[in-house]
Amino acid sequence: MQIRIPAHRPYFGAEESRAIQAVLDSRWLGRGRITKEFEDRICEYLGVKHAIAVNSGTAALHMAVGALDVSPDDEVIVPSLTFVSSVQAILAAGARPVFCEVRKQDLNIDVADVAGRITPRTRAIMPVHFGGRVCDMEGLYRLTAGRGIRIVEDAAHAFGSSYGDRWAGALGDLGCFSFDPIKNITCGGGGAVVTDDDELSERVRVRHNVGLNTDSWSRLTGERPWYYTISEHGYRYYLGNLNAAIGLEQMKRLEDFRIRKLAIARRYDDAVAQTEGLAVIPHCLEGVFPFNYVTRVLGGRRDGLMAWLKERGIGSTIQFIPNHLQPAFSASRCSLPVTEELYREIVTLPLYYEMTDGDVEEVVREVRAFLASRSAGGEQAAAPAPVGQSAGD
Ligand SMILES: Cc1ncc(COP(=O)(O)O)c(C=O)c1O
Repeated sequence: MQIRIPAHRPYFGAEESRAIQAVLDSRWLGRGRITKEFEDRICEYLGVKHAIAVNSGTAALHMAVGALDVSPDDEVIVPSLTFVSSVQAILAAGARPVFCEVRKQDLNIDVADVAGRITPRTRAIMPVHFGGRVCDMEGLYRLTAGRGIRIVEDAAHAFGSSYGDRWAGALGDLGCFSFDPIKNITCGGGGAVVTDDDELSERVRVRHNVGLNTDSWSRLTGERPWYYTISEHGYRYYLGNLNAAIGLEQMKRLEDFRIRKLAIARRYDDAVAQTEGLAVIPHCLEGVFPFNYVTRVLGGRRDGLMAWLKERGIGSTIQFIPNHLQPAFSASRCSLPVTEELYREIVTLPLYYEMTDGDVEEVVREVRAFLASRSAGGEQAAAPAPVGQSAGD
């Protein structure tokens, strides 16, 4: 069965096409004026001093943790219920991930649980603003105050979400965004690191461009334009003009995207609250730009629901398989009962800008039809553990 209503879908218009064509016509596709314009626009929007555009959210996280100059004994506390990139970035930067619980009420980091995992080696905490809902930052500020523990926000889901009068991503020492194809806005692929700290920003700026110190390079352009200095290790992570051009156009659509996706999330919330067998993840949608719509399916019927929807051309997915169960991260294995219970119940339903009211009603109707059907009766098998390990390990 062909999927007619996917779980996620990016939206583009003629403006993006024109912007891409203009970059192609300029013959300057790599990092350049448009990248700089995109970075400036992000700074302006978020009210931050520095934004460094990179080619993925994963690269943003790698650069942000790396800017803290971590060593292999250093620990970074991260929720297990996140996309694998959060964890891989910590490892790539050379630190050790320590997994923590999330709260059932919003799938965000559980500050009380984090408190119990802090050790003298804790260098940073990485709150993930799940689905665009901002974590309990006040709780994290209280926990980290005066202890030299940095906050690196994984705001991959939360570009355009706010916390009081500030924006997600601008709440920690460093904030990281993803502009991959399904995020709140997209560059086709891309991300950004933002910070108010001049030193951290400089480290990210140099390392994201293979260690080239562009400032000294530009100082020397008059005499020896070909000369450059490499004083640091670095990566080829910069965002080129082509992708930045898409991002600049998408930023103009941000508010439209937010309003439409909020309306759909609200409709789902009403429907889920009135449907037996589902549990609302009580969204306070105040200030939220909803990236996805996750609900809990009770009574071991989650997998059955996903199969039912698929047969009817409706996409759904699971965000995410807890990382503490993954064989690659066995060195950080621990027991996280709330996360494991959530993993058996959560499902992501379709949510995207172009979804019509009819599409939304169709999803709601099919979810209810499944839960009322006889096929909804059986218990699903235990959520599959990643290869090489059982969920109980
Ligand atoms: C929570 C989270 N962090 C990081 C990333 C990585 O972003 P990217 O796909 O742009 O590398 C994602 C992407 O899905 C994500 O969901």
